[in-house]
Amino acid sequence: MTRVVYVNGAYLPYAQAGVHAEDRGNQFGDAVYEVCEVLKGRLVDETRHLARLVRSLDELGIDLPMTTKALGRVMRESIRRNRVHEGLVYCQVSRGAAPRSFLFPGPDVPPTLIVLARRVGRAAAESQAAEGIAVKTMPDSRWGRVDIKTVMLLPSVIAKEAARAEGAKEAWFVDKDGRVTEGGSSNAWIIDAQGHLITRQADEGILRGITRDVLIELAARRGLVVVERAFTVAEAYAAREAFVTSATNLVMPVVRIDGRAIGNGHPGSFAVDLRRQFHSAAEIAAA
Ligand code: PDD
Repeated sequence: MTRVVYVNGAYLPYAQAGVHAEDRGNQFGDAVYEVCEVLKGRLVDETRHLARLVRSLDELGIDLPMTTKALGRVMRESIRRNRVHEGLVYCQVSRGAAPRSFLFPGPDVPPTLIVLARRVGRAAAESQAAEGIAVKTMPDSRWGRVDIKTVMLLPSVIAKEAARAEGAKEAWFVDKDGRVTEGGSSNAWIIDAQGHLITRQADEGILRGITRDVLIELAARRGLVVVERAFTVAEAYAAREAFVTSATNLVMPVVRIDGRAIGNGHPGSFAVDLRRQFHSAAEIAAA
């Protein structure tokens, strides 16, 4: 449970932690965000998440209203005040609140910063990982700059809900050429018959996941071959293994795609092993 939320300089009780009705995050999706894992009360991969936040902000010309060091302190304080041992920290920066206009507001309008820490027990994710998840493919209807982590998440909301209606935990977006881009809130991976790990190249068509980047390093250290290229839905159906990566799910085995069993229909040994090893490659910050 979240008790207090940081909003623009104040730690507010959860029920009172609001932003202005004309916040541009609400009206235009004019905001970016990050989700960081918390493990044993510590931030996981803080440096990379903050670097990606800065990149997203720079791409859109939104200012971060404090230094990344100060933001790191607010994230830690949010973890402490909410007594999060295992869970996540969510940060959101919008272009601020101003009378509705498509044009950017003047420099006098400060950005809105929200930081929220939440407990999420690992037990549910671990039992999910032991079973593996189903995914459903659907057309990628998002805008052309999903490499920027904006809150314009409606296509993902619709896709993940459609997946859930069919008993699947994640949606895999497919581009016009029949190639998988990524999940609704995760990166998509397959392992081919040679044992090569394949995940789409990090261009403007996917979010370059922090978990993805860390896993590429981990895989290299373990002598595994990682190929960053687009793969088709047909390749995914025929894969030896499949999995998704995200800060909230780490490495999550995929055992069914569109109702078809992947491999033997159980979590694959590579995915299980990489999940187990993941935190050995991640940066775990001081408390
Ligand atoms: N989502 N692709 C998309 C579209 C995502 O939304 C996410 C993360 C990822 C994985 O990125 P990372 O490994 O840095 O978490 C890939 C977060 C967890 C969310 O929206 O809740």
